[in-house]
Amino acid sequence: MKIAIIGSGGREHALAWKLQQSPKVEKLLCLPGNPGTAGLATNVAVTIENHDAIIDILKQYKIDLAVIGPEAPLVDGLADKVRNAGIRCFGPGQQAAMIEGSKAFSKEFMKRHGIPTADFRTFSREQLYDAIRYLDELPMPVVIKASGLAAGKGVLICSERDEAREVTRSMLQGDAFKEAGATIVIEEFLEGEEVSVFALCDGSRFVTLMPAQDHKKILDGDKGKNTGGMGAYAPAPIATDEILQTARKNVLVPTVQGMRDEGYPFIGCLYAGLILTASGIKVLEYNCRFGDPEAQVVLPLIDDDLAEILYACAGGELKQDSIRFHEASAVCVVMASGGYPDTYKTGLKIGGLQNIKEEDGVVVFHAGTKREGDSILTAGGRVLGVTAIGYKDDLQETIRSAYRAVEKITFDGAYYRSDIGAKGLGGK
Ligand code: AMP
Ligand code: GLY
Repeated sequence: MKIAIIGSGGREHALAWKLQQSPKVEKLLCLPGNPGTAGLATNVAVTIENHDAIIDILKQYKIDLAVIGPEAPLVDGLADKVRNAGIRCFGPGQQAAMIEGSKAFSKEFMKRHGIPTADFRTFSREQLYDAIRYLDELPMPVVIKASGLAAGKGVLICSERDEAREVTRSMLQGDAFKEAGATIVIEEFLEGEEVSVFALCDGSRFVTLMPAQDHKKILDGDKGKNTGGMGAYAPAPIATDEILQTARKNVLVPTVQGMRDEGYPFIGCLYAGLILTASGIKVLEYNCRFGDPEAQVVLPLIDDDLAEILYACAGGELKQDSIRFHEASAVCVVMASGGYPDTYKTGLKIGGLQNIKEEDGVVVFHAGTKREGDSILTAGGRVLGVTAIGYKDDLQETIRSAYRAVEKITFDGAYYRSDIGAKGLGGK
């Protein structure tokens, strides 16, 4: 099988790492990939926005399966174009990707299908005054979300009514989040632990992966600004078998069936961002692809042929109803460039990568790096995802192993959280 992975981050490096383990894979391409994927696959330079160039490359290499990593090309309809070119694609079409591309759409979808989520209303630019009036009725805190894609930054939790009004105005009247904020969702604030559940879907059936927990805030103790994700671990013990069964029945089954019944079956990785509240499981958000950095911890735990599973999903012919997992735990610590998620430097030389050995149970997934001669330099905010794989019953040791590896890697101003996985140890 010839597979092409589209994307260039840590998630795509993890996909390449897992897929190349399959004996079925005879050729693996990354479009465009990064210096980490270069060791596992053939990187082919292309800009992700250039869909025609991507299709040409897929045809030229006679690719059997395209796996699309990030949300932007999915929301822009790349999966439809790949399928129209007669190539199997693991990734939802444009309409199904709306489940992530429009929070207003996904909230209305959940309401139609009785899927538990925070109470909400949506407002467009013309409805500014209705939105302000609605805020007057609501208890604080309240959550205000730009409906469109905003790289994880379009969600604001406001504890004061004045602040909530200001945020609403800045989105609907001003230009905060551009068109992504032209429609907003105002919703009830929920409290509870969050867990990410991934379902690999073929349009009507699905298999689930190990539940993971992300760490979205920049600072220890979940403080400070939101980021793309500063680390993750799996399995998350908070998501017990019972909770996962409930999530399947109340969230995943009705979502996959609802999308199929409404004429846009979901093929790809459906990401359910769940919150475990005192009144049960609720959906905070859907994403239409693997989480990043969650992929870096859920993919290494799979003890099955991922290439076969993704190929079957893409063809609408998933036969199995569960997959096998290693008896293991995984922890990914993201090393970021100082200043992230605001401004940060790039082009800093990374040292120590050669000291990390996969035999020791650690893999370094590249996220924002570039090669210059013999050196690897930083090229983004989130630079590396240092991932340790260890015993299932000893998360503590897996965490230690990840941090031992982190300490061997150096670049100027390197920043990382020091409490990744701590939530999984019981007590905070
Ligand atoms: P989203 O992109 O919708 O998942 O939101 C990003 C983050 O904002 C979530 O992971 C939560 O931490 C937080 N969040 C979103 N919606 C709510 C809510 N209704 N109540 C509390 N926190 C929320
Ligand atoms: N880690 C959160 C996301 O991928 O959206």
